[in-house]
Amino acid sequence: MSAIETVLKEDRVFPPSEEFVKQANISGMEAYKALCAKAEQDYEGFWRDLANEHISWHKPFTQVLDESKAPFFKWFADGELNISYNCIDRHLKDKADKTAIIFEKDDGTSEKITYQQLHDKVCEFANALKSLDVQKGDRVIIYMPMITEAVIAMQACARIGAIHSVVFGGFSAGAVKDRIKDAAAKVIITANESVRGGKRTPLKATVDEALANGDCPSIEKVIVFKRTDTEVAWTDNRDVWWHDIIKGQSTVCEPEVMNAEDTLFILYTSGSTGKPKGVEHHIGGYLLGAILSMNWVFDYKPSDVYWCTADVGWITGHTYICYGPLAVGATQIVFEGVPTYPDASRFWQMIEKHKVTTFYTAPTAIRSLIKLGADLPEKFDLSSLRLLGSVGEPINPEAWMWYYEKVGGSRCPIVDTWWQTETGSNMIAPIPGAFPTKPGSCTLPLPGIMVDIVDETGNSVPNGQGGSLVIRRAFPSLLRTVYNDDNRFVSTYFPEEFGHKLYLAGDSAARDEDGYIRIMGRIDDVLNVSGHRLGTMEIESALVAHPLVAEAAVVGKPHDIKGEAVVAFVMLKGDRPVGEEAQKIAAELKAWVAKEIGKIAQPDDIRFGENLPKTRSGKIMRRLLRSLAKGEEVTQDTSTLENPQVMEQLSQSI
Ligand code: PRX
Repeated sequence: MSAIETVLKEDRVFPPSEEFVKQANISGMEAYKALCAKAEQDYEGFWRDLANEHISWHKPFTQVLDESKAPFFKWFADGELNISYNCIDRHLKDKADKTAIIFEKDDGTSEKITYQQLHDKVCEFANALKSLDVQKGDRVIIYMPMITEAVIAMQACARIGAIHSVVFGGFSAGAVKDRIKDAAAKVIITANESVRGGKRTPLKATVDEALANGDCPSIEKVIVFKRTDTEVAWTDNRDVWWHDIIKGQSTVCEPEVMNAEDTLFILYTSGSTGKPKGVEHHIGGYLLGAILSMNWVFDYKPSDVYWCTADVGWITGHTYICYGPLAVGATQIVFEGVPTYPDASRFWQMIEKHKVTTFYTAPTAIRSLIKLGADLPEKFDLSSLRLLGSVGEPINPEAWMWYYEKVGGSRCPIVDTWWQTETGSNMIAPIPGAFPTKPGSCTLPLPGIMVDIVDETGNSVPNGQGGSLVIRRAFPSLLRTVYNDDNRFVSTYFPEEFGHKLYLAGDSAARDEDGYIRIMGRIDDVLNVSGHRLGTMEIESALVAHPLVAEAAVVGKPHDIKGEAVVAFVMLKGDRPVGEEAQKIAAELKAWVAKEIGKIAQPDDIRFGENLPKTRSGKIMRRLLRSLAKGEEVTQDTSTLENPQVMEQLSQSI
C-alpha cells in the first residue's frame, strides 16, 4: 500500500455529541455549507458582512478587496481601526472586571488580571514607549519570556501603531541580530532572565551579545523587564528598566487611528532558501481571521477558560494568545513553564486547577506526555474540558485517539487545525459542531477559504491522489509580503508555475473519499521539528560557518516524539574523524548550531563522510541522504555517484 493509501484508509469517524451540536456557534453541516455557498456566490459580500459584524471600525471601509496589484492584495483598504481597541477597550463597557489573563508562573503560582487592568497596563507601557520616541511605523523587537508582559508589550506596540517583531526566547544572539538588522528595529524589549522548567535563561545577556561591536546601529533603547533578582550588565543611556519607564505614566493612551492595511507585525519564519523571511501581516484582515476562527473553530463562548500552550514567539502565540482570545473578550491562560515541569502531569493539573474548557496544544507535546505518563490524565478532574485543539504538524492517529479518549473523555471534539505563519489564522480545521472528525485529518477548509490540491500544472487532483496544497483566492488574513523583499514574496507564494494566481502553501496533501484533507508534509527543504519550522539551508549555513567544516547537508528523519529530527551529513576540511574524535567534533558542532541559531535547530544525528554523495555534475543527492538518514536500504541507483564509497561512511550514526 502506498503512503497515501495508508493515511487515507482511516475509517474511524467521530461525530460531535448532540449536546455539543446544540450549543455550537455553527451547528450542523447545513450551516457550514450555507456559509461556503455564500462565499462562492458573493466572495466580497461574504467578507464584507463578517468584517462589519466582528470588527469595531473607527471609520468603516467602503472597498472590500483591491486586486489591482495582485498578488499584492488589499482588504478593507480605506477602513480605519485600532486592534488594541478591538482587543481591550471595546470590552470595557460590560467586561471591565472579567478576567482577561490568568498568568501561571513556572513555579505553579498564578495571578489574574481583568480587562480593565490589562487596559491600564497596556496604556502605561504604550505611553512609556512613546516617551522613548517610539512612533507609528517604527519596528520594535520583543524577545521575552512567556509572561503577561510579552502580551502587554505586543498590545502596546499595536496601540501606538509601532510594528512588533517577536523573536522566540529560545533563539540565539545570532538569530536575534539577523532579525534586528532586517527589520532595522529601533527598540528591543526583553527581560533579564526567563524561567522555564526550573531553569533560568539569560535573555538580556543574549541581547547584549547581539548588539555587541555596534552591529545593530538602529537600536536606540533596550527595555528590560525584571523577571528575577539576577543582576545583569548595564549599558547606560541605552538600557532602561521596564518598571522605571512606566513610573508616572498615565493609564490612558488613546489608540492610534490606523489604516486596515497598515502593518501590524513582522514575524520571521524559515523558508527553503536564504535567511528567515519576515512575514508581514496587516491589521484589518489579520484581526478578522483571528476572530472568525475563535468563533468557528474554537466555538468561543463567554464562559470559556481558554488555553493555548504556544509561545508568543510563534504565529500560534500571536493569533491564539495575543490577539484572537482578547478580540473576542475571552478569559485565557498565559503559561510560563513547560509541560514536563515539575512533572508530566503539569498540563492536566492546570486544566483541573483553572477549569479549562478549551485546550490547544501541539502533537509533539501530546506524544511526549503519552510517553511520560499515558495514565496521568485519569488522576485529574478534566471534566471542565469541552474542546481540544492540535496545531503545528500532522497528528498521528494513535496520538489523536489518546488525546480524544484520555484527555477529552471521548466527549470533546478535537480540532486539528492546519495553517501557517503566512496564513495568519486557521485555514483547514473542523467546525466542531458541524463536522464528524477523523483521527489525523484536519478535515475541510473554513468557509471562504478556497483550498485545493493540485498537480504541477495547477490542475486539481482527484480524491485519493496526493498533490500540492494551494489556496485559489486571496483571503483577508494572508500575509501581504515578505518584509523588504517583494520579489521573494511573489516567487515563494505566488510562483510563476501557477501563473502568479495560486497561493502555494509548500505542503503536500491528499483528500480521502469524503473530501477530508490529510497533510502529508512539506514539499520543500523545510523541516518540522516539534512543530517548529526550520530551513535545512539555515542549519547548513550555520555548520559550514564552523572552522572545521568544509561541506554539510541537512535532512530530516521521522522521530517518535518530535515528528521530525535533524540529521546532518558533514565533510570536514581535514580527515574524516572516527571513534572518540568523531564524537567530540559532533558534540562541538551541535553546540555550535545551538549558538548560531538556537537549541531547537541542533542536529540529533551527525554523520561524517570523506565526501558527500554527489552526481557527476556536483549536486548533492538529497533524496539519497534522506534514505540514509532513515536507515532505509538505498534503492536509488548509485552508479552515477562520483564517490560511491561514502555511502557506507554516511550510513553510520556517531
Ligand atoms: O507543514 C505545515 C505544518 O506547519 C507548517 C507551518 O508552520 P508555521 O508557519 O511555523 O506555523 C505553525 C503553526 C500554524 C505548515 O506548512 N502544519 C501546521 N499545522 C498543521 C501542519 N501540518 C499538519 N497538520 C496541521 N494541523
